[in-house]
Amino acid sequence: MPNITFILANGELKKVAVAAGVSLMKAAIDGGTGGLDAECGGCLTCATCHVYIDGPLVDKIPAPSEEENVMLEGAAVHVRPTSRLSCQVVLSDELDGLVVELPKSQY
Ligand code: FES
Repeated sequence: MPNITFILANGELKKVAVAAGVSLMKAAIDGGTGGLDAECGGCLTCATCHVYIDGPLVDKIPAPSEEENVMLEGAAVHVRPTSRLSCQVVLSDELDGLVVELPKSQY
């Protein structure tokens, strides 16, 4: 069961344990992090589930698809090299300890 640490927009840390196979977006929403709008529910059409993933585990996450990169280009908030759309990241036991930062806003 991967344990994820979210860095909230106000700097607080929130730790969430989720089942493998769940998307990072669902983990955040079900974990009560706030800060993700995820308006399209994971259909890759809104880019309001934007997060930053840092640390050594980032290399264990498959690279974004071309479609995800196109959507990230349209994200309202500053995009970093480690930006991802959280609905496209599926959590696995290998990602136990992942650290994810939420943007100040999705708009
Ligand atoms: S929830 Fe809409 S793109 Fe991720």
